[in-house]
Amino acid sequence: MTEFAYRLKSLGTETAFAVSQDAAEFAAQGNKVYPFHLGDLDLPTPPNIMEAAVKALRDGKTGYNPAAGIPQLRDRLAEVAGAERKISLGQDNVVIQPGGKPVISKFIQALMNPGDGVLYPNPGYPIYESQINYHGGQALPYGYIPTAEGFKIDRGQVEDRIDSQTRLFIYNNYQNPIGAESDSGEMEWVAELAQKNKLWVLSDEAYFKIQYSGKPESIASLPGMQERTVILYTFSKTYAMTGWRLGAAIGPADLMKVFAKLNVNDESCTNHFIQHGGIEALTGDQSGAEDLITELKLRRDILAQYLNEIDGISCYIPASTFYLFPEVTELYQQMEAQSYEDFRSSILRETGVSFCTREHFGTPITGEDRKYIRFAYSGIPVPEIKAGMERLKEFWGSLKSVATV
Ligand SMILES: Cc1ncc(COP(=O)(O)O)c(C=O)c1O
Repeated sequence: MTEFAYRLKSLGTETAFAVSQDAAEFAAQGNKVYPFHLGDLDLPTPPNIMEAAVKALRDGKTGYNPAAGIPQLRDRLAEVAGAERKISLGQDNVVIQPGGKPVISKFIQALMNPGDGVLYPNPGYPIYESQINYHGGQALPYGYIPTAEGFKIDRGQVEDRIDSQTRLFIYNNYQNPIGAESDSGEMEWVAELAQKNKLWVLSDEAYFKIQYSGKPESIASLPGMQERTVILYTFSKTYAMTGWRLGAAIGPADLMKVFAKLNVNDESCTNHFIQHGGIEALTGDQSGAEDLITELKLRRDILAQYLNEIDGISCYIPASTFYLFPEVTELYQQMEAQSYEDFRSSILRETGVSFCTREHFGTPITGEDRKYIRFAYSGIPVPEIKAGMERLKEFWGSLKSVATV
């Protein structure tokens, strides 16, 4: 058997992809599947963006281009992202990436030495934990506390874990998978903590523009924060461009030079004609992005209403992201599930409803006693949401009646 490099032992993955595979296999056997598992969109990229990329392709934008991205896109992004965040940015603060995800590993490679501590959300996007471990960091997960105003960072846990070796704080406001959103007090607390402990902050803003009410805020706009924050920016969700692979790191100019050097080593540059699609996304007609929000909001409202009608489920309704993170402890116990995987797989097989569980978003923290699952509504249209929820209601109803006989 081939012996692979030892460092691969600490590389994690997105285990949610295994859920897709399981759902696809179940569907291939002729079963109906309701796909609530993947954070992808079933809606098309707005046509003006597609046209701009096709035109660029026809115009010969098919060669290598600067490692940091084409200057026009860096300029436009500095302008647009800066205005949205109320910060002043220039071209030197922006380095284009093939998606938002590469910003995570580049942030860690640029700023973390082996053994340094990294605070990161858990449940959270699983690539944080994977990359911290892969690069030899000390993974310091922090959880969230459910409140009437949604999930709030467990500040006590952060304060218990932080020490003189802690160097980075990963912060995902408008959070995947739980939809958590900081109020101003929480964001200011993160900023104070970062400054007091001289931490660099990765502000993962993948869902910054997926807002159903209110205006988004970036931690980079708080006093003293722009110089210690890297923003993960992505076109993926805002413009339904997940498969295009277009994003950016936004941060202090000297650090962005390091990111560009990492680009040279990793992928040379981001796809040329795709970047022209990005310019159109930022500066062209925004009605496609607005329609996306209207559709997602409708889906959120319908899904939340169904979930909250089911006995034994409680679900906070976030004002951003396209995820719901209901608590299902009572049902989990009623089904006598042996594990999260048993719970997920049994429900898929009984109802066709496919979702991820808390376990797909980082190693559960010792002492967690409540059970949660994640529903993504970005990849499933309203009639399917309704049909899937009817199946779930029926199934859970039948469980209840067995329990009470
Ligand atoms: C919190 C978070 N960060 C980053 C990403 C990566 O996005 P991209 O598709 O731009 O790489 C995702 C994608 O699901 C995400 O949920």
